[in-house]
Amino acid sequence: MTQRIKSSLHFCSLRNLFLTILFVTFVSAQFSEKMTAADPCTSKVNCRDCIQTQHCAWCMSSDFGSDKPRCYQPDHALQTYCEEAFTVNPDTEYHVEINRALTVNQAGMSGGGGTMVSGGSVFANSSSGSSYYGRSSSESGGYSSIKGSSSSSSGGYGSSSSSGGFSSSGGSYSKSEGITQIYPQKVNLKLRVNEPHRIDFSYAQAEDYPVDLYYLMDLSKSMEDDKEKLSTLGDSLATEMRKITSNFNLGFGSFVDKVLMPYVSTVPKKLKEPCDGCAAPYGYKNHMALNQNTNKFSSEVKSAKVSGNLDAPEGGFDAIMQAIVCRDQIGWRSQARRLLVFSTDAGFHYAGDGKLGGVIAPNDGECHLDNGVYTHSSIQDYPSISQINHKVIEQSINVIFAVTASQIEVYNKLSQHIEGSSSAVLSADSSNVVELIKEEYSKISSVIEMKDNASNDVKITYYSSCLNGGKPVQTSKCSGLKVGQSVEFQAEIVVTKCPENPADWNQLIQIYPVGVNESLSINLTMLCGCGCESEGPMFEKHSPKCKNHGDLKCGICECDNSFFGRHCECSSQDASANTEFGNCRADKNSTIECSAKGTCICGVCECDKRSGNEIFSGKYCECDNFSCDRYAGQICAGPDHGSCVCGKCECKHGWTGGACECPASNDQCMPPGPDAEICSGHGTCECGKCVCKATDDGRFSGKYCEKCPTCSGRCAELKECVQCQMHKNGPLYPDGCAENCTHFSPTGVEKVVIDESKGEYKCVFYDEEDCKFTFKYYENITTGQILVEAEEKRECPPKVFMLGIILMVIGAIVLIGLALLILWKVLTTIHDRREFARFEKERENARWDTGENPIYKQATSTFKNPTYAGK
Ligand SMILES: *[C@@H]1O[C@H](CO)[C@@H](O)[C@H](O)[C@H]1NC(C)=O
Ligand SMILES: *[C@@H]1O[C@H](CO)[C@@H](O)[C@H](O)[C@H]1NC(C)=O
Ligand SMILES: *[C@@H]1O[C@H](CO)[C@@H](O)[C@H](O)[C@H]1NC(C)=O
Ligand SMILES: *[C@@H]1O[C@H](CO)[C@@H](O)[C@H](O)[C@H]1NC(C)=O
Ligand SMILES: *[C@@H]1O[C@H](CO)[C@@H](O)[C@H](O)[C@H]1NC(C)=O
Ligand SMILES: *[C@@H]1O[C@H](CO)[C@@H](O)[C@H](O)[C@H]1NC(C)=O
Ligand SMILES: *[C@@H]1O[C@H](CO)[C@@H](O)[C@H](O)[C@H]1NC(C)=O
Ligand SMILES: *[C@@H]1O[C@H](CO)[C@@H](O)[C@H](O)[C@H]1NC(C)=O
Repeated sequence: MTQRIKSSLHFCSLRNLFLTILFVTFVSAQFSEKMTAADPCTSKVNCRDCIQTQHCAWCMSSDFGSDKPRCYQPDHALQTYCEEAFTVNPDTEYHVEINRALTVNQAGMSGGGGTMVSGGSVFANSSSGSSYYGRSSSESGGYSSIKGSSSSSSGGYGSSSSSGGFSSSGGSYSKSEGITQIYPQKVNLKLRVNEPHRIDFSYAQAEDYPVDLYYLMDLSKSMEDDKEKLSTLGDSLATEMRKITSNFNLGFGSFVDKVLMPYVSTVPKKLKEPCDGCAAPYGYKNHMALNQNTNKFSSEVKSAKVSGNLDAPEGGFDAIMQAIVCRDQIGWRSQARRLLVFSTDAGFHYAGDGKLGGVIAPNDGECHLDNGVYTHSSIQDYPSISQINHKVIEQSINVIFAVTASQIEVYNKLSQHIEGSSSAVLSADSSNVVELIKEEYSKISSVIEMKDNASNDVKITYYSSCLNGGKPVQTSKCSGLKVGQSVEFQAEIVVTKCPENPADWNQLIQIYPVGVNESLSINLTMLCGCGCESEGPMFEKHSPKCKNHGDLKCGICECDNSFFGRHCECSSQDASANTEFGNCRADKNSTIECSAKGTCICGVCECDKRSGNEIFSGKYCECDNFSCDRYAGQICAGPDHGSCVCGKCECKHGWTGGACECPASNDQCMPPGPDAEICSGHGTCECGKCVCKATDDGRFSGKYCEKCPTCSGRCAELKECVQCQMHKNGPLYPDGCAENCTHFSPTGVEKVVIDESKGEYKCVFYDEEDCKFTFKYYENITTGQILVEAEEKRECPPKVFMLGIILMVIGAIVLIGLALLILWKVLTTIHDRREFARFEKERENARWDTGENPIYKQATSTFKNPTYAGK
């Protein structure tokens, strides 16, 4: 822009300079408008909002100009925009807190990937020194192995072989707590909204990992044979499991149902012994806590007595809940693969069914075991499926539903709703139970699925290439895993939005393999706030910089209730009408205060000053007095004509028009002389000039529309006076002539000659005597005088004897009439004669005498009466 101004100064013309300034103002206004539209940062007025917007940085410098936004895009802004020390632009921070190495046995090395660790060593390097700071790995370059990300740590793989807590040849661990299957275990992560970060972690199943198996059995009457079989299979079960792990614990529990109608018969006799050789019914009983003494299992199963109940479904859910939550009584170890085998041949009661027996209190999910017996069986309802699922996740238990073929469909569906559970068909007498458990265990342990408990504001996506190598794909599940093989995962963590409550900005998120009580804890700190809002040099309570009416936070003032303004200098009492800062904006949507031509001070715009006598004005500085229409280079045609008010000319008296360039009166359109009409009556006066119109007579022109070469002009008006004055006839002669024809007297000429260039008109008329008389006239515009020249002689036609013609006509008509009459008479006479002659001739030719008419009859007749005899 400066370049442009410089180059135009070259021309040194004032006009050019002015135009350039106008242009620059225009362009820069357009430019800044565009910037605000594209840049989400500039509209953010405090640090917190700024930081919560992607790619925005905040400048907390105290002497920061008020004309530029504090919230800006650091990439776009110049380095000098804000001093580094005052820039608030927190970045992703990643720091591994606990990174004990994975526990993998030497034997596992053969099949595993490159990240195997020998010796099963244990590191507890949890100092902050072993840290890794950096931008999110997704930005800095994709997939990197754990080795890469922990390369700066002092511990890690490099020195792992030097120390070993366990003998590499040995099959058992002295302390199960030392086993680590997920790496790393704890990380600190600071993240800003919408800036993804990838965390690398890996999982490896430790060899000889302890297994806890609790066998939960339906002991209703129908399961009697199963129980018998299981008691014989107990030893082989233990033997098979020992092959998998040397550290195997086995437990046994059983259930029937709530001892209430309608689940079991409450007839006293039946209560004691519901069936032959049966034990009294019960809810759930823990016969044998988990322990290594597997021999005891067979005898416990054998000694357990079956019982009886009424309805088909059993109270298995009560038993599952207790078996899961009673950690101590059941004896679940904190580090072990936990299997809960649930074997039944019937359906299950679940939440709500308790109401049939009058139990309405919901299940509280707590342990209620007394001496191994469930005490709240008839006090609390059955748990719901989701309650069980919740507890299963909490306690990392894998439930195996071993059910008979008739029930498998129901339990298949149930297992879909319980994390880490599976179902399998149990033969009628449970003879396949050992195979089943072995199979399910290997299924469970060969699949690894990662889950997390992140809240809605955080999105975690998993990537892994599993065991295939190559580029990781989005998946949280890998299968086909063998003991000792390590699987690498990446978790991409994105904070989608900042939670409203600042207390939620710090979250502990756990990423855990399903069914394993181990996890990667992510201490996630969402970078949603600015530290300078509560501490540091840019924070000051009741700061003098804020006129003691507010706190200085991140360089800006946060004013107390009744104060406002950039430095809290405005009190709401001072400007009761202008209570909002927003008063400086023309409309709510506008981000520009005072139309960018002023500063907002206490809710009132103070408009910028300009050089010369140009000013901005208006409530939002939206007006100026220099951008009005111009006439002849002067605003509003110069101060004599009008003044510029808010972009519009306000004209002085006597002037009108957009730039006050037109006189308001019609004087300039009045032709001189008396009785003058505006524009001679042939046009309108516009802006002091006649605009002539075309009439039927013709087109008018001239300054006053007085000219009309094609018009008949004033001939008709002058005609009578010419007649009476020149030819002594016409309607005015003799009485009105002197009186009415005063404004001109015609000059007699021999022959009228027209000079059209002078505006002379020729007039030709015929008078009553049919004589043609000719004259010309010429109007002197300045004086309004009319000069008329008339031909002295009329051209008259020769006189005609009218009476003679009339008489001749009448005579001719009479003669023709007479001739016609005579002709008619002659014709009729000839005709009559001919008729008479013919009549005569016919009379002569008549054959009869005139006296003998053949049709004549005598008036009298005689008739004879034959019967008259003459008497
Ligand atoms: C990490 O562990 C190793 C091996 O135990 C030890 O030599 C080192 O000093 C530890 N580093 C820190 C920072 O504690
Ligand atoms: C999981 O293991 C930790 C120790 O590694 C233990 O404190 C915790 O109680 C265990 N959780 C469960 C549900 O067993
Ligand atoms: C995830 O689980 C851990 C351990 O149970 C808990 O401390 C943390 O608060 C949970 N996180 C969320 C976001 O619920
Ligand atoms: C999480 O990290 C913050 C600082 O980064 C720390 O103050 C806090 O104590 C950590 N929380 C946990 C549970 O480690
Ligand atoms: C302000 O913006 C809203 C939504 O963007 C729109 O509905 C409204 O008409 C705008 N108001 C003005 C005065 O432009
Ligand atoms: C603008 O207004 C100011 C103050 O009223 C006046 O002095 C100046 O002459 C005006 N300028 C124009 C161009 O009308
Ligand atoms: C002539 O003048 C007289 C008196 O001024 C007036 O009454 C009369 O109408 C006029 N005649 C014509 C034809 O204008
Ligand atoms: C009109 O009349 C004035 C005054 O009699 C005279 O000076 C002038 O020359 C005349 N104009 C024309 C065009 O004849």
